[in-house]
Amino acid sequence: MTPLHKVLKNRDTSINPIWIMRQAGRYLPEFREIRKKNPDFIKLCLNEKLSSEITLQPLKRFDLDAAIIFSDILMLPYGLNQKVEFKKNFGPLLGDLDLNEISKLDEVDFVEKVYPVYKAINLVSNHELTNSKSTIGFVGAPWTLLVYMINKQSPKLKLKEDFFSDEFLINRILIALERFLKLHIKNQVENGAEVIQIFDSWAGLLEEKDLPNFVYIPTLNLVEYTKTLNVPVICFPRGIKNYKNYCEIVKPDGVCIDYEVDPLNIIKDINIPVQGGMDPKVLLSDKENIKNQAKKYLDIFKDHPYIFNLGHGILPETNPEMMDYLVKFVKDYK
Ligand code: CP3
Repeated sequence: MTPLHKVLKNRDTSINPIWIMRQAGRYLPEFREIRKKNPDFIKLCLNEKLSSEITLQPLKRFDLDAAIIFSDILMLPYGLNQKVEFKKNFGPLLGDLDLNEISKLDEVDFVEKVYPVYKAINLVSNHELTNSKSTIGFVGAPWTLLVYMINKQSPKLKLKEDFFSDEFLINRILIALERFLKLHIKNQVENGAEVIQIFDSWAGLLEEKDLPNFVYIPTLNLVEYTKTLNVPVICFPRGIKNYKNYCEIVKPDGVCIDYEVDPLNIIKDINIPVQGGMDPKVLLSDKENIKNQAKKYLDIFKDHPYIFNLGHGILPETNPEMMDYLVKFVKDYK
């Protein structure tokens, strides 16, 4: 059994596996090297040779317990024929949404468009660097994908006034998302993903009253589906106020917490395995501070099944040496 499975399935509290969100990314010079020669981000995600190589880059440097496949949550709208591009210093930019296109789309068309993602998972999970480690597949949660598909770019701090105005459109998109997200999860699992993480990066934009319709119910459907595939699922509802309600309703195998929640409240309220929490900015400081902050999380979750991670992705300006220090510290912690 891999360390992540021991924590997620057996609720083992004697180990603290570690992996880091965005561990394959811009803070690594070897990633920037490849990225420089591949300006089209989507094309890079669809090059299974390069995307599997990028996925393995952090595992060559650090003693991590999992490989998360180098891809993006926006491969889903891309697979649904919505135009997706990544502009430098701006982030994702999506094209107009054509409901007719989406309604016409069948599963074969979708799989054909994103097929290299599954091939990359296959390459990574069969690679010797992931022996006794988990290969993590992932999807965006329906809500977060809906935000990108309608807003067509990152929403920054709040949604546009008229975001919810076209109820028909929203419902049709949510129906399509459920169908194709299940397919995307299934294909990742069939190709070697041993854990699935569901990223709900914009869950925090919703008011409490809207959570059931847009977050709880659509995510619960995916969690239940993933469980039928016999693969543990971790949810990351970034920015929500009430992790307790979320866990009780959505029932993932593990919950990833963001850096704004107090881990002392989490340990009181939540009995499922926990992942993450430490502020990525800590890695921009010094080793003493990194040690103290990492120790804080490890101490609090000492008798709780816990996977070490950050409370959001590692920042591009992080020095890889600090990442190295962190991984070693977590591994040596007793
Ligand atoms: O190492 C890993 O974690 C796996 C790869 C991964 C990426 N994106 C690669 C990526 C994962 C799991 C994601 C998830 C993702 N993508 C989320 C959810 C997590 C989160 O960050 O909240 C979201 C919201 C996206 C959408 C997205 N992709 C944005 C907003 C951006 C631009 C912002 C940025 O960091 O540049 C991306 C681009 C992106 N996805 C990069 C990487 C490595 C940077 C690409 C580059 O310019 O080199």
